[in-house]
Amino acid sequence: MSFNKNFYWGASTSAFQIEGGKQLDGKGLSTVDTRKVKSGIADTSITSDFYHHWREDISLMKELGINSFRMSISWSRILPEGNGNINLTGLKFYDQVIDCLLENNIEPIVTINHFDMPVALIKQYNGWISRKSIGDFANYAQILFKHFGDRVKTWLTINEPLMLMYNPGYNGSHYNNPDDTTQTNFIILHHILLAEKYAFKLCHQIVKFSKIAPVSAFQNVYPLSTNYEDISASMTAESILSYWALDVAIKGHYPIETFEMLKKLNLAPIVSHADENIFCMDYPDFIAFNYYSSIHAGKHQPQNNFIPPFYKFPLFSVNMGEERKTDKWSAMESDANGLIMSARKLYNRYHLELMVTENGYADTQTPDESGQIDDQERINYLRDHINACKQIVDLDISLLGYFVWSFIDSLSGREGFSKRYGLVYVNRTDQDLYDLKRIPKKSFYWYKNFIKTQNV
Ligand code: BG6
Repeated sequence: MSFNKNFYWGASTSAFQIEGGKQLDGKGLSTVDTRKVKSGIADTSITSDFYHHWREDISLMKELGINSFRMSISWSRILPEGNGNINLTGLKFYDQVIDCLLENNIEPIVTINHFDMPVALIKQYNGWISRKSIGDFANYAQILFKHFGDRVKTWLTINEPLMLMYNPGYNGSHYNNPDDTTQTNFIILHHILLAEKYAFKLCHQIVKFSKIAPVSAFQNVYPLSTNYEDISASMTAESILSYWALDVAIKGHYPIETFEMLKKLNLAPIVSHADENIFCMDYPDFIAFNYYSSIHAGKHQPQNNFIPPFYKFPLFSVNMGEERKTDKWSAMESDANGLIMSARKLYNRYHLELMVTENGYADTQTPDESGQIDDQERINYLRDHINACKQIVDLDISLLGYFVWSFIDSLSGREGFSKRYGLVYVNRTDQDLYDLKRIPKKSFYWYKNFIKTQNV
């Protein structure tokens, strides 16, 4: 067996995607609560209603046999105004969840911020666009460390800065054309990266025996061809998409060559001497990364098909393959070897322990006549990627754990409840809440049996 007995076998979620309770018990509104969504998809009012079902859900986690659960805390449930009074009922909610997890021998791995920002901060100063966000994030993180630090030892800072910087529905910033690769995106990211440094420092100061990590949406990039221009562009793509943020977190500066490239395009932020000092203030203990599939990039050329904003750069083009289909959600093919490549690249560049904090498969499956959900494709996907983890460990790369996205069907950012990642089905649709009944899918039992074999 390759995995040691302390390996984290877990499942992941985030607050706004599962909790609901949008304005219950003193919670303030978040960007994700007020963002514009495609018509017909569910909003954040109820989602999977974890806010009322957490006891039942933790019992299911216990049955599943996971030893860790990745969850995030909603900033506006703790600080409804983003930076004012603390909502004690919000703290109590998470106290109950965390205590119940620990009673069941499930370690909570907590993301401080997963795509949601209090709307109050957007109203006060336009959110991450303002430097004021740095201090307010640090204050929020400090509250969490002081309150939960006696029980939560493993922390993740800000989920996927790459996605957050480009999505106005998440970062709440209002600027002219959010689809443009403008310098505004990089200013937002600059502030996120400065804020993250305070989280590293405060965590180490306040929480005894803590570990903290940034969370990368790691983009494993293959060159589109063996032509020099494609290979070179693919290297640039990987550097901008993945190393730009991670280098700051781990090395204390932006990747030097790439910084010059973005400077010429007027995209690089201004890094003051004070910023340089903050960048060197503290460093993470490990790297958390989310991996779904890999991309191919080559020299820049005009593209007509759908390209997410974070892939639009004048320095490279990402080959998106076929248009998205509703019965096959991933725009790219599954590529478990890409997970191994990602781990090798990260470990060689940074020499830090790694944790796969998200990996999963989306489908549209609903229960059959017998009420079962036979999600064999998800099982195949998970099996392949867990095998990849085994190979990573066999390469002597320190891999701390693997987390399936997601534990339970949750609100997908763009597609609501028609796109489902859960090991557990939630009986609702975008339009109807039905009874929100939990039904473990076939993949739940597959993962359960797999984890059991690891514990013998
Ligand atoms: C990750 C996010 O990028 O991908 C999750 O951290 C998200 O929050 C997941 O749900 C899947 O993305 P989507 O848009 O398919 O739900």
